[in-house]
Amino acid sequence: MNEQINELKKEALDSLASVANRAELDAWRVRYLGKKSRLQAILKSLSSLPVEQRKTIGAETNRLKNELENLLKEKEAAFEEASSRAQSSRDALDVTLPGRPSTLGRLHPVTRVLQELQEIFASMGFEVVEGPEVEWDYYNFEALNIPKEHPARDSMQTFWVEAPSGDDDREMLLRTHTSPMQIRVMEKQEPPLRIIVPGRVFRYEATDATHIPMFHQVEGLAVDKGITMADLKGTLYEFSRRFFGPERRVRFRCDFFPFVEPGVEMAVECAVCKGKGCRLCGQSGWIEILGAGMVHPRVLEAGGIDPQVYSGFAFGMGIERIPLLRYSIDDIRLFYSSDLRFLRQF
Ligand code: PHE
Repeated sequence: MNEQINELKKEALDSLASVANRAELDAWRVRYLGKKSRLQAILKSLSSLPVEQRKTIGAETNRLKNELENLLKEKEAAFEEASSRAQSSRDALDVTLPGRPSTLGRLHPVTRVLQELQEIFASMGFEVVEGPEVEWDYYNFEALNIPKEHPARDSMQTFWVEAPSGDDDREMLLRTHTSPMQIRVMEKQEPPLRIIVPGRVFRYEATDATHIPMFHQVEGLAVDKGITMADLKGTLYEFSRRFFGPERRVRFRCDFFPFVEPGVEMAVECAVCKGKGCRLCGQSGWIEILGAGMVHPRVLEAGGIDPQVYSGFAFGMGIERIPLLRYSIDDIRLFYSSDLRFLRQF
């Protein structure tokens, strides 16, 4: 019997030495300590032995059982530690690895143009102000010399907004241009005035390659004693020289806006064909970029400024057109489709 126990012990220890993982250890446990193990068989057979033998063999077998159980626990603990060490080395920072590049954001092309314009006009002494996107009919039309039934209203398809209760007699809208700020600024400030107003405007129009219902404008307004058309042209020439470069020719032609008199439109030479005529400029060689003119006396009056004493000029330009022209982009909707493949090019 002793012989058998020693043999069993030797076998169990040898076999434990070659256990390499938890699964193998579990198999080892079942084999040498489980219900159907030889050790259990010996323990069960003790009752059939004479008392003396039962004592010694019993003690011997129990000692082996304890020993194997202890070895099992040790081995389990060793596996446990090894796996937690592996985990923590996985969590550790490996400073030798190359870093993950962080993706850099960039400014939207329209934002960039707005910033550039603001810098140019600020350096000419214009103050940057902003105004509300939800506006009263009065500021958007009425005070700008566009009365209720004026046909100029037709050129600015309007998003009407329900006015807050208590103001039911006044009509509210999403501003169709930045010009209402001319009135708001004149109401608050005394001349001399030199401001530009960057901002969003809204028109109720069908979307296509050249129209979107929301776009940006920059308004300009200068009011002082003795301001003339020469100041208007000088300012806009200077803007064009700085923004488009000194080589680009600029053209002024008559145009009509109810809030200026006289009114003009300014065009710059087409960058693509250098004035020869191409698809981008509709074969004309010129691209219109803004409307402008001398502030109408009625508009000055609406702003609380005496047209006998003061005069002024105003201009308004669409912003999306500028990068459109600069980069020969053929669809304005690309700016707002959030397609990063497009936006990353700028
Ligand atoms: N507000 C006009 C528009 O949106 C542009 C403009 C502004 C024209 C100022 C003249 C003077 O078309």
